[in-house]
This record gives sequence, structure tokens and C-alpha cells, in this order.
Amino acid sequence: MFDDLKALPEDTILGVMARFRADPFADKVDLGVGVFRDEAGHTPVLDCVRDAESRLLTTQDTKSYVAPVGRAEFNTLVQELVLGKSHGALAQNRVRTIQAPGGCGALRLGAELIKAAASQVQVHVSDPTWGNHLPLLGGAGLKLARYPYYDAAAGHLCFDAMLQALDRCNAGDVVLLHACCHNPSGADLSPAQWNEVLAVLERRRLMPFVDLAYQGFGTGLEADAHGVRLLAEHLPEMLTAISFSKNFGLYRERVGALILLGAKPDRTDAMTSHVLQIARSIYSMPPDHGAAVAALILADAQQRQRWEQELERMRNRIQSMRRLLSATLRQKSGDGRFDFIESQCGMFSLLGLSPQQVVELRDKHHIYMVPDSRVNIAGITPRNAAYLADALLAVI
Ligand SMILES: Cc1ncc(COP(=O)(O)O)c(C=O)c1O
Repeated sequence: MFDDLKALPEDTILGVMARFRADPFADKVDLGVGVFRDEAGHTPVLDCVRDAESRLLTTQDTKSYVAPVGRAEFNTLVQELVLGKSHGALAQNRVRTIQAPGGCGALRLGAELIKAAASQVQVHVSDPTWGNHLPLLGGAGLKLARYPYYDAAAGHLCFDAMLQALDRCNAGDVVLLHACCHNPSGADLSPAQWNEVLAVLERRRLMPFVDLAYQGFGTGLEADAHGVRLLAEHLPEMLTAISFSKNFGLYRERVGALILLGAKPDRTDAMTSHVLQIARSIYSMPPDHGAAVAALILADAQQRQRWEQELERMRNRIQSMRRLLSATLRQKSGDGRFDFIESQCGMFSLLGLSPQQVVELRDKHHIYMVPDSRVNIAGITPRNAAYLADALLAVI
């Protein structure tokens, strides 16, 4: 059966990781993989997570299955964290949440639900977008299209072109939006721009599928959920994919959720029944450990406060590295070409380099990033910022 099967080319990011590991240079810099790192280059287990895990170890009395929907208390806490406790859609009983294996699992569940309900619609994704959006949505058999979002050479959003493209979509189409900390550009919509996106979604009768993978990494837990809350307040239907990989540092535990918003409570119930059947047919039940940990933290006022403090420290570190790199580049070059890095949000920015310049950074300077020149800001430290700035200015 497998005699003629050709091996696929290596995944780009895994290739970058392998080359980085093989490089013996002591001061090499990894700006590739999208995980948070502290100043020592480590991706830590949060203290609140460690405590919740030890509480779990002593209190958990069964490893029996949970349910395809996951933990009920986790799902309630997630929707309150994302929408805010007093959101109108919650009061109208139009929201259901299903635990999922990470944000990727939630995105795929949402894609399969769209396919089951309306297989002919197009899903419009931003150009550029996170590389995994394409296989996650396209793999479900959905037709994908792109809307302009960010001009990497100029370092800013192409918001007018985005609105014009959305205005040409067919009624019933789906628009994938990044709630905050756009991956890979770091360029987010302002509250005023969210209003304009809402207006075009309403006018063209488009359904948003929002990806919220970095709540708390941009401006704060509340501000980062602004777009989701606004759309859920005004639109009849919406899907939101949640990831707790970054904000709880629970990457390998696969913690996420899909939030469903239907036009009426019975419509959301129908959507839920399909998602549960889809989950059953792919992986049956979500993993429990990480969701149990997140639920313990979110439900306990003291632990939640600790989590928010740890999250704030991660956010502050990223923001301070943005300021440091921008300022170092400005001081060394005498111009403000890279000032956009400081004003952007979350872990990523696109440097706007050519693939050749990315290769030169790797081969001459031991600095690693993906070929589109997306950099993980959390890979920057006070020790390597000047080295990085010198190398960048040398290749451009
Ligand atoms: C934009 C975006 N969405 C979703 C995810 C999904 O994350 P996970 O499946 O690890 O929870 C990521 C992870 O990098 C991401 O960057």
C-alpha cells in the first residue's frame, strides 16, 4: 500500500527548529517557534498552573472519560472569560461552549461544522495569516479565499482594501478574523475599525469565525476580547476558537474551546449537537488535564488573580522587548523604519525581509526565523537585542 508514497517536504517551522538546534554558535538567536520565552530563553510552567496541578494530583479520584463536550465548569468559565459575565448573548441563552484539543482542535471543529451546514460557502482569511489556518480549514474541505490585511513592506494594515474585499463577499460567506495579536503581523484592528468590520459583516450578511489564541498577550484580558464581544453583541451567528496554550502556558496539554453563538437558543443547541458528533468522529473526547487545571484557576478568585499577574508579566516582557528592539534599531540606523515593531501587539511581527535576507541572517549571523520574516518577539532578550539590530541593519 505505501510503496509509492512519497515523503512530504519538511514542515517549514520544524526545519527552522532543527537547523537552530544543530547550530553550535553560542550566541545564536531563535525567533522562530511561536512560544513565549522568559529572559533566560525558557518557556516556563506558570506558578498558578503548578499549584493547580498539585491540587489536582491529590484530589482527582478517577481517570474515567469526561464527555465529548468536555468539562461543563470549564466551558462556563471560558465563555465568561471571553464574553464577560454580563454579555447580552449569554443572557439570551444563545451561547454554548465545547472544550476542544487546543485552539487547532477548536478551529477544525468549527470548520467541520461550517462544512456540515453550508459546504458551498467560502471562508475568507486574512493575507497574511497564520500558516496553519489553511490546512485546518481547507482540510475540512472548505473553499478558502483571501482578503488583504497587512502590507509587510510598508509595516501597516491595508484596512481600506480589507473592507472593500469584504464588501464583495457573497452573503453567507465566512470571514476568519484574529481577535487580537494578529499572527504573523502583530497588527490589530482598533475599536473604531472593529465597528467598521461589524458594519460590513452585517450589511453583507457574513458570519465571523474569530480566532482568539492570545487573550491577555496584547493589551489585557478585557481589551483583547473587545472585537469578539462587539460582534457577539450585534450579530446573529458567530464561531469563536479559543486557545489556552499561550495565556496559561499549557501548550502541550492541548486546552481550547469552541464558542458557538446561534440566532436563537434552539439554533445553538442544533449547532452543538453537530459539533459533538464531529468531535466524536475525530477524537471522541478532549484531553482533560489542562482544562481541569485552567478551570481550577479561573474558578478560584485568589488563583485567578495570580494567573492575571503572571499573564501581565509575560505581556510586559513582550512589550518591553518591542520597545527595546525598536529603540535600538532607531538609534543605530538613525531612522524610524522599524518603529512599527513597538506599536504592534502580541508575540509576532513581520520584519518585511526577503527570503534571501532571512537566509543571510541565518547563515552569517546565526539568527533564525521563518522565511516570511515573522519573528517571535519573545525570543529577544536585553542581551541579544543589540546583536540582532546590528545583523538586521547589515542585511537590509
Ligand atoms: C493564530 C493562532 N490560532 C490558533 C493557534 C492554536 O494554538 P493551539 O492549538 O496550540 O492551542 C495558534 C498557535 O500558535 C495561533 O497562533
